[in-house]
Amino acid sequence: MSLSLSDLKNNFNSKLQNLQTETQLKDLQEEYLGKKWLLKGILAGIKDLSNQEKKTIGVESNTLKEYILQELQKKSAEIQATRIQKQIESETLDVTAQFPSRSLGHKHPISITTELLEDIFISLGFRVEDGPQIETEKFNFDMLNIPDNHPARDVWDTFWISDDINSQRKPGDKYLLRTHTSPVQVRTMLREELPIKIIVPGRVFRYEQEDARHTCNFYQLEGLVVGEGVTFWDLKWTLDTAMKSLLWDQTKTRFRPSIFPFTEPSAEVDVSCQICNGTGKIAEKNCSMCSGTGWVELLGSGMVHPFVLEWCGIDPEKYSGFAFGMGIDRIAAQRFGVSSSRAFYQSKLKLNEQF
Ligand code: PHE
Repeated sequence: MSLSLSDLKNNFNSKLQNLQTETQLKDLQEEYLGKKWLLKGILAGIKDLSNQEKKTIGVESNTLKEYILQELQKKSAEIQATRIQKQIESETLDVTAQFPSRSLGHKHPISITTELLEDIFISLGFRVEDGPQIETEKFNFDMLNIPDNHPARDVWDTFWISDDINSQRKPGDKYLLRTHTSPVQVRTMLREELPIKIIVPGRVFRYEQEDARHTCNFYQLEGLVVGEGVTFWDLKWTLDTAMKSLLWDQTKTRFRPSIFPFTEPSAEVDVSCQICNGTGKIAEKNCSMCSGTGWVELLGSGMVHPFVLEWCGIDPEKYSGFAFGMGIDRIAAQRFGVSSSRAFYQSKLKLNEQF
């Protein structure tokens, strides 16, 4: 016998110790237990031995074979455990790891202003209403005392929905992009019980030549109060209080007679310009927000026209109401000191992020 069983065991043990990978382990298994296994050589030599010796060697070699098998299995389990451990370590998720922070974005100045206005009016007892941006001619004009032939229609340069759709519809049912939030007055009066005290913030559309104060879509906030004994004084107090708390206590309001077909009497309300502090000038030049007048026209208002009340099923002899509609963009420009409300629609992060 060239190799004794104990030599074989020692060799195996030292090889096993140095083993690192599963491939090496497979090779070792092949070497000791495979087709050409080393034990085979030993067993081949036993034919010359005595019966007793044959028996002993047979038993010992079987024991050795068992031993090798067991050791290989143990080692295989060890290698696998080490591999899994390493993998776990390399894949660990470090929840405390620092990453370059990503900006979350923030509210647009018009949204900020809308929310401020909502807070102010809610504190005065108003409720927030909503209405569709695609309106019918009936609600946007007819029910507001602006019939088809009325010259006031020209004031609201209207975007009509395409002829393909509108030519199939009856007058009054024709669609347009609402030119103001006033149709929601009508929708609410038709639907709700009195008293009504609502504000309606929303987007409106006009076919405008754009400049510092005009954009073809902008935001309005409509107000409507209807009930018994509502007066023009209530309107003045409400708007003056709201503007003072929105801008600053020194803000002055100015009511100028005006005409709106759906209010009578009507007034346009200006506030003292905060860009130029009511002086009309910035560095010797005319302030572009107020065109050098020191006043900014912020809203239209008036007592709800008796026709409008009547058409909505409300007795104008018994009830009265006031309404107003303000441009949120202009208020945002005033509040944040931005000289052109058009800037709000230019997606300039540098501007928006300042507020
Ligand atoms: N809807 C009018 C406009 O867009 C504003 C307004 C609202 C006037 C309510 C009077 C009453 O110009």
